[in-house]
Amino acid sequence: MQDYSIIVAMDRNRLIGARNHLPWRITEDLAYFRTRTLNQNVIMGRKTWLSIGKALDERTNIVLTNDLGFSYPGVIVQHSIAELESWLVSQQSPNENFIIGGAGVFEQFLPLACKMYITRIEHEFEGDTYFPPYNEEEWLLTSYETQSSSSGYELSFNLYERRGETHAKLG
Ligand SMILES: NC(=O)c1ccc[n+]([C@@H]2O[C@H](COP(=O)([O-])OP(=O)(O)OC[C@H]3O[C@@H](n4cnc5c(N)ncnc54)[C@H](OP(=O)(O)O)[C@@H]3O)[C@@H](O)[C@H]2O)c1
Repeated sequence: MQDYSIIVAMDRNRLIGARNHLPWRITEDLAYFRTRTLNQNVIMGRKTWLSIGKALDERTNIVLTNDLGFSYPGVIVQHSIAELESWLVSQQSPNENFIIGGAGVFEQFLPLACKMYITRIEHEFEGDTYFPPYNEEEWLLTSYETQSSSSGYELSFNLYERRGETHAKLG
């Protein structure tokens, strides 16, 4: 099985989205996301792809969809996690595989991921899409930094690594 790293920004209530967009605009978090994912693989659901609206530059963009007709220049399209796995194996690339959302995709990769980069925003926003609940005991906080954003929110950048062999195997 490939290694997967979740990267997500969430508010105090695990909110991640509102009407298929981010509920906030925080340039410091966008910069953090860019720095982390540059030159790596970014794997996303079709709705997150729609909300971004373009391929992220200097990254390998991979979109999951069941739509066999979906295509876009510069985008790798995969139709299942099994298909994605086979493709990643065939690439033999040293890139980190970042799962960048949204909620549906986070939920499927949570049992498979070995790292989570979580930006926590100390605020309660309005929205409709949440990061799934997860068992905190399976994760060890290995890096923690705080920052005040120019928009006035307190942020923390947290890296969690999975403890031991608690991840699921693909069947
Ligand atoms: N705060 C953050 O860090 C963050 C990050 C990313 C996204 N978001 C937000 O999250 C929201 C979108 O999340 P969402 O859960 O609604 O949608 P999503 O996870 O981005 O996309 C769901 C779609 O992905 C495709 N898909 C998912 N798993 C698949 C699989 N195993 N095989 C094939 N296709 C698969 C399906 O597309 P088809 O319907 O085409 O089959 C599905 O309808 C937006 O509000 C966005 O702004 C927030």
